[in-house]
Amino acid sequence: MRKLVVAASAIALLTSIAVAQETPNPNVAEAKGIIKELFGTLKGELEAAVKEGGHTNAILVCKGRAPAITDEMSKKSSWDVGRTSLKLRNTALNKPDAWEVKVLEHFETRKSKGEDVTTIDYSEVVDVGGQKTFRYMKAIPTQELCLNCHGTAIKPEVAASLDQLYPGDQARGYNEGDIRGAFTLSKKL
Ligand code: HEC
Repeated sequence: MRKLVVAASAIALLTSIAVAQETPNPNVAEAKGIIKELFGTLKGELEAAVKEGGHTNAILVCKGRAPAITDEMSKKSSWDVGRTSLKLRNTALNKPDAWEVKVLEHFETRKSKGEDVTTIDYSEVVDVGGQKTFRYMKAIPTQELCLNCHGTAIKPEVAASLDQLYPGDQARGYNEGDIRGAFTLSKKL
């Protein structure tokens, strides 16, 4: 009987832990929703551009549209929305700050320990000049279609166009499943 009681309370405890973990932080849920929409739009425009005029054409769409779409997401939400990476293509726009570098490095450690890249994320309330700010980052996995412009065997004409537009481009040499970068969002509390 005693054993049964112990087992029952252990189950109750485990259930309450599981429930506690599943209770979503509303800010995380909101950030994830924005990312889902942003990623869907970016990927949709990318695929349409590739279909229309191949990868060299799609580079120009990425260059022009990705920052604009990301800006639009910031404007229509109460969040600052961006993309960043440890190995950048657009150094002018997407450079990580010290907090983001730390989080991106931590993502790499988590990946090397076997964590699923598609769910790696991190959030923290930080102080920005006396203002409490909620910050959230979510890893962006490298998919097969990304390899055309971020992979190890980029077609010469695509590479030439990237060389011309982004002279210091570091965002190549990725394999499928690598962390290409992260979405980075912040909101004043
Ligand atoms: C047609 C070529 C092309 C393809 C395919 C492509 N990208 Fe990019 N990517 C670019 C260009 C060009 C930029 C720079 C955009 C800018 O100027 O903001 C970029 C920038 C990025 C950035 C911002 C960080 C940085 O390095 O400046 C991320 C993150 C990113 N790409 C992820 C992806 C992912 C994930 C995929 C696949 C789903 C993908 N890209 C597919 C061309 C491409």
